[in-house]
Amino acid sequence: MEATTSLLDAAAVGDLVLLDPLTEESLLRTLQERFQRGDIYTYIGSVVISVNPYRSLPIYTPEKVQEYHNCSFFAVKPHIYAIADDAYRSLRDRDQDQCILITGESGAGKTEASKLVMSYVAAVCSKGEEVDKVKEQLLQSNPVLEAFGNAKTIRNDNSSRFGKYMDVEFDFKGQPLGGVISNYLLEKSRIVQHVKSERNFHIFYQLLAGGSAQMLQQLKLRQDCRHYVYLNGESSDLPGVDDAANFRAMQDAMRVIGFSPTEVTALLEVTAVVLKLGNVQLSSSFQASGMESCSIAEPQELQEICELIGLDPGILEQALCTRTVKARNETVHTTLSVPQGYYGRDALAKNIYSRLFDWLVNRINTSIQVKSGNQRKVMGVLDIYGFEIFQDNSFEQFIINYCNEKLQQIFILMTLKEEQEEYIREGIKWTPVEFFDNTIICNLIENSKGGILAMLDEECLRPGVVNEDTFLTKLNQLFATHKHYESRETQNARHIMDASLPPRCFRIHHYAGKVTYNVTGFIEKNNDLLFRDLSQAMWAARHALLHSLFPEGDPQKVSLKLPPTAGFQFKASVATLMKNLYSKNPNYIRCIKPNETKSAMLFTPELVLEQVRYLGLMENVRVRRAGYAFRQLYGSFLGRYKMLNRRTWPRWAGSDREGAEVLLAELPYPPEERAFGHTKIFIRSPHTLFDLERRRQERVVQLATLIQKIFRGWRCRTQYQLMRKSQIIISAWFRGNAQKNKYKQMKRSALLIQAYARGWKSRRLLRELKSQRQRHTAAATIAAYWKGFQVRRAYRRYFRSGASACLANFIYRRLVQKFLVGLEKNLPVSLMDRTWPPPPYKFLANANQELKSIFYRWKCKKYREQLTPQRKALLQAKLCASELFKDKKTLYSKSLQQPFQGEYLGLTQNPKYQKLQAVAKDKLVMADTVRKVNRANGKTVPRLLLLTTKHLVLADPKAAQPKTVLSLEDIRSVSVTRFSDGFLALHLKETSTVGAKGDFLLVSDHLIELVTRLHQTLLEATAQELPLHITDQFSTRFQKGDVAVTIVESPKAGGAVPVCRKRGSHKMEILVH
Ligand SMILES: Nc1ncnc2c1ncn2[C@@H]1O[C@H](COP(=O)(O)OP(=O)(O)OP(=O)(O)O)[C@@H](O)[C@H]1O
Ligand SMILES: [Mg+2]
Repeated sequence: MEATTSLLDAAAVGDLVLLDPLTEESLLRTLQERFQRGDIYTYIGSVVISVNPYRSLPIYTPEKVQEYHNCSFFAVKPHIYAIADDAYRSLRDRDQDQCILITGESGAGKTEASKLVMSYVAAVCSKGEEVDKVKEQLLQSNPVLEAFGNAKTIRNDNSSRFGKYMDVEFDFKGQPLGGVISNYLLEKSRIVQHVKSERNFHIFYQLLAGGSAQMLQQLKLRQDCRHYVYLNGESSDLPGVDDAANFRAMQDAMRVIGFSPTEVTALLEVTAVVLKLGNVQLSSSFQASGMESCSIAEPQELQEICELIGLDPGILEQALCTRTVKARNETVHTTLSVPQGYYGRDALAKNIYSRLFDWLVNRINTSIQVKSGNQRKVMGVLDIYGFEIFQDNSFEQFIINYCNEKLQQIFILMTLKEEQEEYIREGIKWTPVEFFDNTIICNLIENSKGGILAMLDEECLRPGVVNEDTFLTKLNQLFATHKHYESRETQNARHIMDASLPPRCFRIHHYAGKVTYNVTGFIEKNNDLLFRDLSQAMWAARHALLHSLFPEGDPQKVSLKLPPTAGFQFKASVATLMKNLYSKNPNYIRCIKPNETKSAMLFTPELVLEQVRYLGLMENVRVRRAGYAFRQLYGSFLGRYKMLNRRTWPRWAGSDREGAEVLLAELPYPPEERAFGHTKIFIRSPHTLFDLERRRQERVVQLATLIQKIFRGWRCRTQYQLMRKSQIIISAWFRGNAQKNKYKQMKRSALLIQAYARGWKSRRLLRELKSQRQRHTAAATIAAYWKGFQVRRAYRRYFRSGASACLANFIYRRLVQKFLVGLEKNLPVSLMDRTWPPPPYKFLANANQELKSIFYRWKCKKYREQLTPQRKALLQAKLCASELFKDKKTLYSKSLQQPFQGEYLGLTQNPKYQKLQAVAKDKLVMADTVRKVNRANGKTVPRLLLLTTKHLVLADPKAAQPKTVLSLEDIRSVSVTRFSDGFLALHLKETSTVGAKGDFLLVSDHLIELVTRLHQTLLEATAQELPLHITDQFSTRFQKGDVAVTIVESPKAGGAVPVCRKRGSHKMEILVH
């Protein structure tokens, strides 16, 4: 097996677990041997040890990526790609969040390792336009952050001066979705001060070297590094580093991430401001009070800064040279001394830069953050500043080393302590392996009650004069007997003379070595205070980015509360980081620095041995050798591998442990390869695990094939069934249709044949019937001739004995019979039909006339019988009218169409006529409106006329009050004209009581009806006919004597309304038309 050959290399094993014998020397020799042949990676189980080669090796090519992609961890040569692949696959296939912890001292190759891991994952995960964009953004965050957060130190030309933890988020398919970067405490003191032969942050050199002349002019910068105080006034080109090219790469990276040109310009402007702040020189002067004060020595630089940030130079000058102190509602301006001024200026530069760096990280996060809320898996890559020991170590080193101490603690906890504890807990036979537990050092630093950081915070918050001496004294008292703490005082107390311990220093025995820290600056750096005047000045700037970096500068938001100290913040963020790391499956890369001179191929055994010791690699190997490479809860184990045994697949009915036992019993592994704990199964060697995985993969492929087979079979079957069903339906329809057509055809043929057959039969029958009829006719003719012959013979016999009268009588009767029958059929239908069939023979003419009159009378009788009494009365009235007026008065013919209504006033309906109704009672014959002619002048007035069976009443239409009541007996006669007018004269008897005024001349619209009804009523009442004169001239009697009335036909008269004209006192003319 290749795995064995690559790891069991006789000269230098790839996995130190296989080292025999296991000693420090053999371990060191193996590492050196491998390093010398270019194998910089070595395993301890699944932990990768990486020795910095300080030269580029041809082991990161795309071919190598392919080689390690989906490989078996131990089947190929140890490589960082193998651990990256393992972590990625666990994340994708086992749904486990991963973290990759890269540790080692400064310059050991952590940042390079983290980049290699990221680039590997980016290369192997799936491709696509969107995915490539995300990958590119994630990878391009490195050059930007390195430009602003890395610097050359004595130990490393590209030393990370900030801690970085990057969570890369994936979807369930393992496609990268985005990420989140967390940064930890930037070493900002480097901005204002760095030791010779080191450099400030790369960005300053990159900007000056790579910025175009126009850009530098815009940023008011000079290309010469020596001009800038913060760059130590020296030009510092790094051999092998092209700052200008890096600047271009950094700009390209920003573009890829999504920075807008405005954002880039703003970022560079603020960077330029920081650089230029270092050149602001202060000079001392004395105030009138004798107090020392400072002022700007050369206003040019300040002027340019203010132009860049859009601020009044006066404001910045005042903020730099004076300080506002608020005490009891009083604001006092105090001048600053030159050192105080410089202190403020440097604090401002540090603050601007560190806040700018935080903004940068946030801005990158905005671009790379995952937008959708899908469930994600996370791979965290931790690249934090390495453990470092300098000549002069300050607060920053203290913090950096504390962080490394915590990471070592994680490593110890997870690989050494927890592992051993777990064996004991699970009841596995175990001989404990001794190791150094650094919890005691972590406690010394971070203990919230009496740790160094807590003491420092306490000192910072203490009222009164605070300085580092009191802080150190406190530490000396507290940790006088602590094994890992030393200072001149504690050593003296222990009667130890230690010349390497200068005053104002303390030393901590870190896991990686002893570091002496100088307390000078601890309090100031921990407080990290910026004069409020300066933050307010920055807030007042018109430069949007700079303005946004100093929100506390808003005078509205002035807070007297002290911000949390740098140490406190760092401790809290480290605690969060640890919690995050604990929640993920760890993968370790332990970087080792082979020499101090950054030289390729140089392996300094002493230096490496020191690292091997403090990294606890020996203990790691021992635990690994004695322990088990893999453990898992029985349930999960069974769930993952149950397909390897027929009894456990697809379901195991017993307990999980029994299942695991059954499963492993049938696999060809020696018994020492496995151990059964209380809750977990332990597998000793990774080979066994990889073999298990390999078998699982093969089985999964088989099972997938089986499922595929069954599914395909099912799919084909279903499709076949469907096709069959469809085919049956189609053929059924088709056959049905064919049969229907055939049937129609047959039916048509049958009908045709039937028709022919029936036709033939019918014609035969017809022929038969015709011949039958001919026979009958012939027979009848013969019979007729025969009967005729017999009749003639009989007739001849009877003729002479008076048969003629008998015959004539017979014929006469037959004719009459025929006439009457014919008449019956042609009788007129209605009474008005006057047509009558003429007599067929003359001798029937009288009878026909007689029959006609009988028939009409009978018809009239029938008509009369069906009449109602009302209709009968009406017809009688009409008959009477015809007798009176027909052919005598022109108006008569017009009145024929009008029915006689009698009641035209509506007496019963109209309550107004109540009184008249009382007069009429039930005896009312007619009620109408008439016009009465004034006897004096011939003019007419309307009157209501009521004719009852006894009286004729004239009433006033308005009052509906009877005016004249005439008894019918008083009426002598009536005169009317020949024309079509409604005029009538009512002649009264002389005896009449009401007739004092004389006769009445009236005009009525219903004259014919009125006169007819009057005539009928009078006849009924008095049995006398009403004398009616239809005349052109008559005499009428008025109160003042008789008047001769002449009817004159004149066109002036209008229709039925005549015009009466009085001519003298005894003549009157009635104009009618
Ligand atoms: N795998 C490698 N191949 C080639 N050169 C390497 C490799 N790893 C590291 N180096 C070299 O070592 C230098 C330092 O490495 P790196 O910056 O990764 O150290 P570091 O551990 O991150 O240090 P620090 O803690 O100071 O940030 C790199 O600039 C590079 O020249
Ligand atoms: Mg680094």
